[in-house]
Amino acid sequence: MCGIVGAIAGRDVVPVLIEGLKRLEYRGYDSAGIAVVVDGAVRRVRRTGRVSEMEAAARAEHLSAPLGIGHTRWATHGGVTEGNAHPHISHDSLALVHNGIIENHEAQRERLTKLGYVFESQTDTEVIAHLIHHHQSQGLDLLAALQASVRELDGAYAIAVIDKGEPDRMVVARMGCPLLVGLGDGENFVASDVSAIVQATRRVIFLEEGDTAVLTRDGVQVYGDDGQLVARAEHLSDVSLASLELGPYRHFMQKEIHEQPRALADTMEAIIDAGAFEPALFGKEAEGLLREVDGVQILACGTSYYAGAVARYWIEAIAGLPCTVEIASEYRYRKAVANPRHLIVTISQSGETLDTMEALKYAKSLGHDKTLSICNVPESAIPRASRLVFYTRAGAEIGVASTKAFTTQLVGLFALTATLAKLNGRLDAETEAGYIEALRRLPVSVQHALNLEPQIAVWSEKFTPKQHALFLGRGVHYPIALEGALKLKEISYIHAEAYPAGELKHGPLALVDADMPVVVIAPKDSLLEKVKSNMQEVRARGGELFVFTDADSNFGESEGVHVIRTPRHVGVLSPIVHTIPVQLLAYHTALARGTDVDKPRNLAKSVTVE
Ligand code: F6R
Repeated sequence: MCGIVGAIAGRDVVPVLIEGLKRLEYRGYDSAGIAVVVDGAVRRVRRTGRVSEMEAAARAEHLSAPLGIGHTRWATHGGVTEGNAHPHISHDSLALVHNGIIENHEAQRERLTKLGYVFESQTDTEVIAHLIHHHQSQGLDLLAALQASVRELDGAYAIAVIDKGEPDRMVVARMGCPLLVGLGDGENFVASDVSAIVQATRRVIFLEEGDTAVLTRDGVQVYGDDGQLVARAEHLSDVSLASLELGPYRHFMQKEIHEQPRALADTMEAIIDAGAFEPALFGKEAEGLLREVDGVQILACGTSYYAGAVARYWIEAIAGLPCTVEIASEYRYRKAVANPRHLIVTISQSGETLDTMEALKYAKSLGHDKTLSICNVPESAIPRASRLVFYTRAGAEIGVASTKAFTTQLVGLFALTATLAKLNGRLDAETEAGYIEALRRLPVSVQHALNLEPQIAVWSEKFTPKQHALFLGRGVHYPIALEGALKLKEISYIHAEAYPAGELKHGPLALVDADMPVVVIAPKDSLLEKVKSNMQEVRARGGELFVFTDADSNFGESEGVHVIRTPRHVGVLSPIVHTIPVQLLAYHTALARGTDVDKPRNLAKSVTVE
C-alpha cells in the first residue's frame, strides 16, 4: 500500500519518477505527488486521483530536476485530499515520502506542536518530516537527522527524503515495508518494488529491516540498524518490461488470467524436470524439517487464504496430516495453542501483507520454528522470515484482483501435499507418476477452460444488472466458490456470497428467488450427485442456476439451468481448472458494468496495513 520512488541523476528525473509511479499505482491510487530539489528550492506537485492527473500538472508547471521523490497513496490517516497527499514538506526545506504506518504519530505530533511545528495534514507521515527537521535544527546533517528520527518512531515505514540544503544526496530508511535501491551509471534510484525503476536499471540492493542509506549520483552507502556501514548484496532483477506492459489486452486482469497456462508451467518446471516431488523444491533444509512435521497450520489473507482452504482438503486426504487454515488477521490476535511439530505455511502473492507477516511472527513467538512460505515476490519480507520457501513463478501480478497468483499457489500447495505424503510413506511410485502427469497436462486443460471465454461473456450479461449472487461448491471446490464470489464482488461491486452447497438449506436458501443468480461449481467428482440435489432445492424456489461442470459429467441444460462445460474432469487438480471460469465471469461482468477492473474502488494490491 502506497508506492514510493526516488532518483538522483545527472539528468531530469521527473519522467523517471512519473513512469515509476505509474508502475507502482497498483499499490494505491487515491492520490499522487512528486517533489524535487532544483535551483536551491523544493518544488512539489500533488493531485488527488490517478498519477496521470498529477503528471499533467507537473508538465504544466515544467517541473524538471536532477533529484526527486514520488509517491502514490492509499489513504490510511487522513482522507483523500491534496493536503494529505505525499510528499510532505517541513519548513520549505525538506520533502519526504512514506509507505507504512507510524503508530506513535499522535504523541510525536503533540511533542512537535509544542516545539512550534504547524501541521498541514491529518497524516502520520507529516510527523516524520517535522521530526527530521527538528533534528536538523539541533545540528545534525540529513542522514543523522533521519537516523535519529527513525529511532523515535514506532511502526512500519519505507521513507525517502530530499533537502534543498543537501542537493547532492537523498536519504532513505526501511522498517517493515519494502524498499530497494537501484544502481545505475552515474545515477541511483530507490523504489518500493523493482517494477518502478526497471526501465532505468536491473541492478538492485534489497534494504533490510532497520537499514538507512545515502544515495548520491556516484554511489550508495547502506547503514545497519546500529548506524554502522554494512555491505548488502547486489542482485540482478529478472523482471521483464514486457511483463509490466498490457500488450494486446484491455486490462492487466485479463492479461493475467490468460497468462495462467504459462505461469503454471513455469511454476511447476522444477517438478516436471525432476519427474518427482522432492523436498529440495522447498529449500536446502526441507527434507529434515518436513520429516519432523506431524500437522500443518496455514495462515493467509483473501484469495491466498482460499488457496490454503483448497490445500486443507488435499493435505488431509493425500498426506494424511491434520491441517487447519486460518485468516492471518484472526490468528495473530487470538490465544492460539501451538504445536511446534506443525508446519506453519504462510501464503502471499506480494510477500508483504502485514497481517500475514504478523501472524508468522506470532506463530514463531509461540514456539513454531518450522515455517514455509509460498510467495510470488522473491526477496520479499514473508519468505525472508521463513525457513522454507516455494516461489510461484507467476510473474508480476498488477491487476488488484489476484488471478494467476492463486492458481500457481495451488500448484505450490499441491507439490507440498505430495511431498509430505511421500515423506510419510503415503505416495507410491505409481500415484506419484500419475500426479506428475496430471501436472504436466494442467496448462493445456487450463487453456481449454480459457477458451470458454465467449460463452462466459454471454452469461455475464445476465449478471450485469443484478445486485446479488450466490456461489455454491462442495468439498475441495467450495473454496473455488468462495474465490468466485470474492472476484465478483471486488471488481463488479455485486454483492456475492459463497456457501458449501449442503449448507444452503440451513439459511441462505431464504434468499433465493428469480432475481438471485446461483453459480454452481459442479465437477464430476464423488460429490456431484449431492450437488445436484442441492441444485434442485434452488430450482424449486425459482432460482436460476449457472453451472460449471466437466465435459464428461452427465447432466445437461434445462429450464433455468444453464451449463458450461469445462474440459474433461482432471481429477485431483480440478479446483485449479474450475477457477478459470469464475475469474472470467467476474471479469466480463465488471467489464459490462464499466468498473475500473484493475483498480477497484477502495482497494490496493499490497496490503501493508492492518
Ligand atoms: C483478492 C486479493 C486479495 C489478496 C490478499 C492477500 O483478489 O487479491 O484478497 O489475496 O490481500 O494478498 P497477498 O497474497 O499478497 O498476501
